[in-house]
Amino acid sequence: MEKVAVFGLGFVGLPLALSFAMRDCQVIGIDVDPSLVEDLNNGITHHLESYQSRSIQEILGEQLASGHFKATLDCTEAMEKCTSIIVTVGAPVDEGQYDLSPVTTVCRSIAQGLKPGDLVLIRSTLIPGTTRRVILPILEESGMKAGEDFFLGYSSERIAEGRAFHEFENMPAAVSGLNEPSLEKAHALISIVTKAEIVKSNQFEVVEAAKVMENISRDVNIAMSQEFARFARALGIDIFEVIRVANTHLRVNLLTPGPGVGGYCLPNALYYLLPKAEEMGIDLPLLTLARQTNDGIPRLVAEMALNNLPVPADQACVGVLGLAMKDYSNDDRISPAHDVIHHLLKAGCQVKAFDPAVPSRYPYKVDSLEEAAKGSHGILVLALQKDVDYHNLPLFKKSLLGPQPFIVDTKNIYQRSEVESYGFRLETI
Ligand SMILES: NC(=O)c1ccc[n+]([C@@H]2O[C@H](COP(=O)([O-])OP(=O)(O)OC[C@H]3O[C@@H](n4cnc5c(N)ncnc54)[C@H](O)[C@@H]3O)[C@@H](O)[C@H]2O)c1
Repeated sequence: MEKVAVFGLGFVGLPLALSFAMRDCQVIGIDVDPSLVEDLNNGITHHLESYQSRSIQEILGEQLASGHFKATLDCTEAMEKCTSIIVTVGAPVDEGQYDLSPVTTVCRSIAQGLKPGDLVLIRSTLIPGTTRRVILPILEESGMKAGEDFFLGYSSERIAEGRAFHEFENMPAAVSGLNEPSLEKAHALISIVTKAEIVKSNQFEVVEAAKVMENISRDVNIAMSQEFARFARALGIDIFEVIRVANTHLRVNLLTPGPGVGGYCLPNALYYLLPKAEEMGIDLPLLTLARQTNDGIPRLVAEMALNNLPVPADQACVGVLGLAMKDYSNDDRISPAHDVIHHLLKAGCQVKAFDPAVPSRYPYKVDSLEEAAKGSHGILVLALQKDVDYHNLPLFKKSLLGPQPFIVDTKNIYQRSEVESYGFRLETI
């Protein structure tokens, strides 16, 4: 039975650990967050994943009961028992500066318990060059030689939250190894879960860079769609309709515009390339402009609301639907919704935001659609969630204030004629 330690039990680590556990591996998950570890061992998680009609909560319960999975704060037992060690902790970015310390801290703990024959597989998204230049020397502080005494692999993580179990299994994966034995061992471990193609490279840097470039390509694509949206709006045509038509071209894949680009991956990606590019004396003007474009969208969305207020902003109230970084997610890290709200609050507005999937608390968060709408001068729809009745226009009619309340629809869910028949003003992307 394969014995797997997974460091980091977040949006990637938890479903990955359970994916191995479901396939009869013995898995120990390690995290530094005591309340997370306690919740997981009690079968509690807020994640919104599912696999073959079973929720992640059911899967977690089953794997705890079968003894295939447990969570812990202390890596000693995991390092003693497990021979496959997977790292999924992130490198957060703050004000454009990345912080590798979660990854280096984990690798130092691993080095202390590393045994001959172990495989360390890094799955965090990293600045190209990190596995070789930073991680490898830390692991060799164990006194063992990488590629000989222990094995080192890097495999990029490509899942989208909400589809994690399915994509671990069915998304083609990319893997690299320090040398042939490392690559073969990493490939064998990944293939326990991944049934799709697993592309091999013998250079860590290729797989690290591909991952960051995959993310940036989506960021740039969205920035382009945002610009197309402004053009289409001025022309009086619907950008979502334009994209639907354009994407029937077999070599075109435009992503959709929205309230901005959020989450852990896309907004951070450029900041994993820029320092390295600077070090090498290379400019990345297009990529930088795309990031700035996407960073600027929440302000434009907030202005759509501010320009429609019937009263001065400091007397106004705005209802926000959706705090998550994307539709049907419980993750509101780096969410454009918070940026939109920040602009509204800065202008003096009161904000009441409703998102039933996001567990975090905020002063502006309310517990129902009714509360968000009641006494507001308009509604902004920023992320969709299940079981929210966005089309309850009679409720909005009853609850919203002013002669012509506004709805800012960044999700393309309303028909203009219907919204206007209720006397609302509709603003779209
Ligand atoms: N979230 C996604 O959809 C996604 C998709 C592809 C790739 N990635 C990448 O995967 C990595 C993880 O992302 P995530 O969204 O799961 O992050 P996350 O923040 O949800 O999870 C990281 C976990 O690591 C834990 N942690 C931090 N320091 C630790 C330490 N020293 N020891 C043990 N645990 C520690 C945190 O408490 C947290 O629970 C990142 O590199 C990210 O870029 C994420």
